[in-house]
Amino acid sequence: MIETIPNNVDLANDKRLQRALLHWQPGFLEWWREVGPAGFQEDRIYLRTAVGVSEGDWAVWDTVKMPDYRWGIFLARPRKEESIYFGDNIGGKLWDQVPGEFRKELRRLIVTQGDTEPASVEQQRLLGKCAPSLYDLRNLFQINVEEGRHLWAMVYLLHSYFGAAGREEAEELLERRSGHEDHPRILQAFNKPIGDWLAMFCFTMFTDRDGKFQLASLAESAFDPLARSTRFMLTEEAFHLSVGEAGISRVIRRTAELMAEGTDPHAVGAIPLEVIQKYITEWCSACYDLFGGEDSSNAASYFAAGLKGRYRESDSNIYPDHEALEEAYNLKVHVNGQWSTREIPMRRAMNACLLDAYLKDCHRALNKWNALLEQAGLPERLFLPSTRFNRHLGVFAGQTFDFEGNPVTQDEFDAGLHGWLPAAEDYKLVRESMVAVYEPGKMANWIAPPQRGVGGKPLDFEYVQFH
Ligand SMILES: [Fe+2]
Ligand SMILES: [Fe+2]
Repeated sequence: MIETIPNNVDLANDKRLQRALLHWQPGFLEWWREVGPAGFQEDRIYLRTAVGVSEGDWAVWDTVKMPDYRWGIFLARPRKEESIYFGDNIGGKLWDQVPGEFRKELRRLIVTQGDTEPASVEQQRLLGKCAPSLYDLRNLFQINVEEGRHLWAMVYLLHSYFGAAGREEAEELLERRSGHEDHPRILQAFNKPIGDWLAMFCFTMFTDRDGKFQLASLAESAFDPLARSTRFMLTEEAFHLSVGEAGISRVIRRTAELMAEGTDPHAVGAIPLEVIQKYITEWCSACYDLFGGEDSSNAASYFAAGLKGRYRESDSNIYPDHEALEEAYNLKVHVNGQWSTREIPMRRAMNACLLDAYLKDCHRALNKWNALLEQAGLPERLFLPSTRFNRHLGVFAGQTFDFEGNPVTQDEFDAGLHGWLPAAEDYKLVRESMVAVYEPGKMANWIAPPQRGVGGKPLDFEYVQFH
């Protein structure tokens, strides 16, 4: 089995890693069969597999059964920097081993990241049964197998650098379950099932995008194997994000098309624009919490130690000051009925900085979606919720703000909630639209076709060959 694992970490000559993986791999496959995609395990799927790290030809495309997918282990090529470039240890050599004093923190960061990867596979496991097209079904499975590989990437770090404690964590990554009462996944957003494809597109647009920014901040880490593992994960992650962004675009395009011709989308099994808005609000606002508190001592110590950097920290044009000791981050807060500005020392505001980078990216996508509405000649527009809306963590937790971020009373908030977030009847309506379409080239009625096929194949290619 070991010989078939694609890698660039010299696995063939690393007896210790071989032993650890031989022990772990059967459990992984068992996990995949138990809570990976429900059904479809015997079908042949047109999938890409990472086989190297050189730009342009890092992957091969093949028609394979998912349990036979070759999950590999890759480190991106070395960075151009050889020394630490932010925090307290600027100029020190990058670490190729884990420094004793940061063992616990690094392990926690890796386990928390690693836990989200299998969690998302579990959350998405039922979606194949109502895929809007073979193209989308294939994309779902591509994402699933690559999240599986991301779990491998984190397990590689745990096995190679964290001894017995790391091996134990690697086992536990296969034992926790999304939504399980007694042993749930670590982060709350990864414990709710993704019940329909609009939610799937919102998840890959917003939640996976949070993942992109978390990975990007780890990709700056002074711990070089972590930085290079996460850098390569971002290569695959780009596709997941594009599935989400383009998926929402396609739903909007279909709805806008119907509205423009005067047809009620709901009447023909498509999704009303206000329901799309509510889904966007639900998933986007849930992700704000994933960044952690805006004012955080943990964030400050991660930065000081060189464990996590800002988004594109290495770029000195963006960050002239990599120590971040002098500046402050200004956050508008509302305390005792008064607006004021809280000055957060920059290092303590690293989560807020990362959230800002995320929001900028989300707004870029939002502008594209609104351009679709404009092109259809419609006056309606979509919006992103304020970062103060519906928060359970951070500076705004425990306060009530409306969608735009204006302070409201608890009663006003409760009364408004129905208009902001999906209610039972909205979920029901979306679920009723979800019908499986498995004929090559055909699409469900609630979603527009993509511009083109994937992996060099036409849109009407048989991306999934049923057994
Ligand atoms: Fe991932
Ligand atoms: Fe992903």
